[in-house]
This record gives sequence, C-alpha cells and structure tokens, in this order.
Amino acid sequence: MGPPILSAVDLDKSYHSGSAELVVLRECSFALANNERVAIVGQSGVGKSTLLHLLAGLDRADSGEIRFGDRDVHAMGEIDLARFRNRHIGMVFQFYHLLPEFSARENVMMPLLIAGEATGAPARADELLAEVGLEERGHHFPSELSGGERQRVAIARALARGPEVVLADEPTGNLDHENGLRVMEVFERVHARHQTAMVLVTHNQELVSGFDRVLRMGPGGQLEQTDQEAPR
Ligand SMILES: Nc1ncnc2c1ncn2[C@@H]1O[C@H](COP(=O)(O)OP(=O)(O)O)[C@@H](O)[C@H]1O
Ligand SMILES: [Mg+2]
Repeated sequence: MGPPILSAVDLDKSYHSGSAELVVLRECSFALANNERVAIVGQSGVGKSTLLHLLAGLDRADSGEIRFGDRDVHAMGEIDLARFRNRHIGMVFQFYHLLPEFSARENVMMPLLIAGEATGAPARADELLAEVGLEERGHHFPSELSGGERQRVAIARALARGPEVVLADEPTGNLDHENGLRVMEVFERVHARHQTAMVLVTHNQELVSGFDRVLRMGPGGQLEQTDQEAPR
C-alpha cells in the first residue's frame, strides 16, 4: 500500500443525550491508499456512518485526526472545510439526497456551480450522466426517476469535481438486487476510469467482491479485516 490519501488516527466520538453518553468510536484508526477500494460491513448502529461522516469532514471527532494527504482536515475552518469537501470528496448516501426542485443535470452541475465553475458545468454534467448511463434523462427531475436512476445521478454529482475519494454510505441499501448490481457496476467503471479511491459501507458483501479490502466494524468502531476480500 502506498502512502494513504485519507486516514483517520485514533478517533474518539461519543454522542450525548441528556446525561447519557454513547461511545461510538474509541481510538478508531483507518487508512485508505490512493486508488484503493475498501468496503466496511458491520451491524446496524455500530458506527459506520459516524466514521464516514468524520472522514468526509461533515462532523468532528472528540479527539483524533483526519488527514487528507498532509492536511489535517479537522483543523480547517468551516469555509475551508466546505471548499475542501467540494473539491476532494464525493459523497453518496443511501437516500440519494438529490435536490428535488432541480433536474438531474442541474443536480450534477451543483458542485461546479458552488465552486464558481459555471462555464464548463453543463458539458461536464452531460458527460458524467452519460458515464452512469443516463444521457437521456438529464432534464428529468428526481421524482421522475427510479431509485436506481437517482442513485446514479448522485454518483455523477459526486464525481463532478474529480474528487480523489468517494465515500458511499449504503448506496444500494434502498435498491432491489438488480438495481444494486447496476449501481455497483457504475462504481466499478468509475474506479476503472478515474482511479477514484473509495470507501463503501454496505450490508451486502456479495456486492463488493472486487474490492481490495473488506473490513468489519465491531464495538467501539474497531475495524478488522475479514477473509472476504477477493483481489482480482
Ligand atoms: N446525531 C446523533 N446523536 C445521537 N446518537 C447518534 C447520532 N448519530 C448516530 N447516533 C448513534 O450512534 C450509533 C452509531 O450510529 P451510526 O454511525 O449511524 O451506525 P451505523 O451507520 O453503523 O448503523 C448508533 O447507536 C446511533 O443511534
Ligand atoms: Mg449507517
């Protein structure tokens, strides 16, 4: 494994409600190499989404570090952090999180518009929609698309700025088997074409057979390599 592109070092994360403290991650460490694909499996509630959100800089740990290359992600202020996420991290969620009042094409353009890159945005969006097999559907609104199609739009959006890392939280969790397979095929193609490193949380280990590593998250966010990994 080369030097990590993204790593977590000794993360602690607890949630508090009233006087109760729920410790989710305790000294959780993780490193993702350039171009590497890692799947994380584990029981519901164990802390998989929490780790992904911390890796993305969407939430802050109580202690520990997130490093992207040689940058300390959690040391950035909110504006720098938003800019960093927009440029370097593509997020894909179980429930797509598309903006309902915008077309598929506009949703894919959004990260480019936010970054002030309006000029090439329509062409880039069309190119990415073609890549996920939706070249004919750019003008459709999310409500006019199936779940699998919405997720493919979300993947195209995640790629808009050419991020080095895609973080996907149960991206097939809301899809039937066939559409789940299609979404995984799209991820496969994306990886082959863009060399995007990927962390994907899933309940379905069958879908990640080509991944470099499959890690199981246990209590406290401890990550252990499973023997499921099947390098090609
Ligand atoms: N914002 C929050 N406030 C309080 N508890 C939370 C919050 N987010 C997650 N949790 C709790 O933290 C634990 C881990 O959640 P999560 O990371 O979503 O697990 P997973 O993604 O593995 O299902 C769960 O017990 C969940 O209920
Ligand atoms: Mg989750």
